[in-house]
Amino acid sequence: MTKAIAKQPVIVQAPANIALIKYWGKRTGCGNLNLPATGSLSITLSDLLTTTKVELDQSLQADAISLNGIAVDEKRIHRFLDHVRSLTGEVMPYCRIESSNNFPTAAGLASSASGYAALAMAASKAYGLSLDRTQLSGLARIGSGSAARSMFGGFVLMHRGIRDDGSDAFAEPLLDATAWPLEVVIAIVTTKAKAHSSTVGMNHTMATSPYYAQWIEHNEARLVQAKKAVLEKDFECLGALSEASALQMHASAMAAEPGVLYWQGATMECMHRIRQLRGEGVPVFFTIDAGPQVKAVTLPGHASKVRDALADISGIEALEQTTLGAGARVL
Ligand code: DP6
Repeated sequence: MTKAIAKQPVIVQAPANIALIKYWGKRTGCGNLNLPATGSLSITLSDLLTTTKVELDQSLQADAISLNGIAVDEKRIHRFLDHVRSLTGEVMPYCRIESSNNFPTAAGLASSASGYAALAMAASKAYGLSLDRTQLSGLARIGSGSAARSMFGGFVLMHRGIRDDGSDAFAEPLLDATAWPLEVVIAIVTTKAKAHSSTVGMNHTMATSPYYAQWIEHNEARLVQAKKAVLEKDFECLGALSEASALQMHASAMAAEPGVLYWQGATMECMHRIRQLRGEGVPVFFTIDAGPQVKAVTLPGHASKVRDALADISGIEALEQTTLGAGARVL
């Protein structure tokens, strides 16, 4: 029965990704499949990585999970592992998991994306499942919607899907990182974990924001245009669409009751500075996820100028710089 399961630990490294066209809201009535209400479009980052080791252990009475060296007991991770085991159709042992991020966890830097992408690939392999990348993307989505995109490198398109079983809600590569090597400067406003996770923030937005329906409608239309902008490498157009998607996502969240506020003062300062730089001829645009950090996306050769400009803003704790990179891989 256990002949296909891994005898050795499986180690996977998965990158974070940032959405340019955001996912913010889920399809309802589809159980625990975690189906997004809209498609999304992201870039995979080369330097923000999660490394996860999964080892099956017959002696365990429950999964033993550590994150950055600290034991965690998160229902969501246990549920995800139960789901992976259920796919084998057999009774399987629990596992020991050690996962670490080389960047701040749960601070709006896409740790759940890289985390669940790494876990989906490592756990499915450890339990002897042989899934292709599309299937892995769908599996990672069940853990966290954005994780579906970290299976692939470069520019990635996530399909909303229409089937109730979620079989068409997966990501696919759109353009290779080397074909359009954008660079990203991340202004870290705080490394503290955020008050509301993305899941809580988007569910609350869905339930109470009067702007939610409009957000969904506009984002779907924007996705089609953004896909074209990527394929035509139209930086200006992609920038305008990306800023609109980020601001409208936050507007829908702020309009919830009570409003969900992820920004700090320095977040706002960064947005103004980036627009000012653009006015001075620097090709750059911003995007912001469920946290106060600002990601500035720029063309090759301009990152140091962007970095210097953001470094001057008071309230910035640190700056990270990264290129685009490849998707998750077994080490
Ligand atoms: C703002 O993927 O973290 O980063 O599926 O509930 O785990 P769950 O949500 P998650 O949400 C990501 C929200 C976002 C936008 C994006 O990455 O598309």
